[in-house]
Amino acid sequence: MTHAHIDLHRRFPADFVWGVATSSFQIEGAAREDGKGESIWDRFCRVPGAIADASNGDIACDHVHRLDSDLDLIASLGVDAYRFSVSWPRVQPLGAGAWNPKGLAFYERLVDGLLKRGLKPYLTLNHWDLPQALQDQGGWPARDTVHRFVDYARGMQRHLGDRLAAITTHNEPWVIAVLGHEKGEFAPGQKSRKASMQVAHHLLLSHGLALQALRADGARARLGIVLNLGHTEPATDSAADREQARLDDLRGRCWYTDPLFKGRYPQPVWDELGADAPAVQDGDMAHIATPLDYLGVNYYSRVVSSADHSFDKKTSGLALTDMGWEIYPRGLTQLLLTLHRDYTLPPVFITENGGAFKDPLTDGRVHDADRTAYLQTHIAAVADAMSQGVPMAGYMVWSLMDNFEWSSGYAKRFGIVHVDYATQQRTLKDSALWYREFLRQCHARES
Ligand code: FCB
Repeated sequence: MTHAHIDLHRRFPADFVWGVATSSFQIEGAAREDGKGESIWDRFCRVPGAIADASNGDIACDHVHRLDSDLDLIASLGVDAYRFSVSWPRVQPLGAGAWNPKGLAFYERLVDGLLKRGLKPYLTLNHWDLPQALQDQGGWPARDTVHRFVDYARGMQRHLGDRLAAITTHNEPWVIAVLGHEKGEFAPGQKSRKASMQVAHHLLLSHGLALQALRADGARARLGIVLNLGHTEPATDSAADREQARLDDLRGRCWYTDPLFKGRYPQPVWDELGADAPAVQDGDMAHIATPLDYLGVNYYSRVVSSADHSFDKKTSGLALTDMGWEIYPRGLTQLLLTLHRDYTLPPVFITENGGAFKDPLTDGRVHDADRTAYLQTHIAAVADAMSQGVPMAGYMVWSLMDNFEWSSGYAKRFGIVHVDYATQQRTLKDSALWYREFLRQCHARES
């Protein structure tokens, strides 16, 4: 533990929720077992060149077959909560109609296993693995998918709602819209800005309608959404760079947060979209602005804007993670303060934060001091925001264990637990040992 963080635990209240996070496609495997349908990520992994190491999610961390020992592993860390996602095609193979009892039974075992171990289940409905059958009918660009999602959300609440601490509708709508439908780097690999803007609108709309439906059905879990947000700053103090940063912030952050908290899209971005602006029907914006019980924020790095695109992370002077992302904890404080300034926030959770590093396993240990420092400095950044009035409620490390990092495949390791993919052996990295000790100190204060 570095000296500056010795008293870090003292900066958090007793009811602050500490956790670790994963998602279905990245860890589950069992891709074609027990009636699971195909997801768009199963399909996308087959596209030549789509995944850096030509891998897929067929086995991943084999989590479906190792559920009990993985639950023991999570409990051994001393966390309060586990954030996971449901594979929609595992529970409803075609994304509509029949439910798959074996798929539902898996998540029941997961949730009951968490509760038995005293852990709070934080369930995400959509962490990107849309049923391929719905993609074949138009996917997120099609408005009908909105209603399929609401039905799915209601079905999951019917099955598990009495046992969940929280339900998140979508994980990172920006990534689904932009990386999935404009840049084509993620499933389903489309390259159309128009489609991407319609997707973003449909994700937000389905979120709002799902919240209303779940509440009408008697929701007991807290309901929210998870956004990926960076802190945007200009590369230089020039007027052009500052204007670029203002626009980038409107495009990447406010395009999502303004509808959720103010019921409208930011006008400057709407204007620049022209014919690519989404089709919005009467009433949509009010549905999107349905009040949240909490906001989930995934934070990894800052966004640097330069009008001539000359900014280069490699020469910025900041250390980079193995993803090539700048390590910038101060940006997390600034982002949270910006959100607090712009909106009346519900309780805020950091639902993902962490870093990929090289992580060699030597003699049964992984000395990932860089990750431990990353976590310590970002947790301190959360405390800084909290002490300035931001209503922070929890923090979850991305990720519990190394897993399938989307188009980067298995080469990028985000886990605080190391996974040997040949043997599926899990080994706590030094960062996990630090987190466990830190949580012990947090909880010792309560008793
Ligand atoms: C986020 C994703 C998560 C993980 C991290 C590194 O965008 O939500 O699944 O891949 O990035």
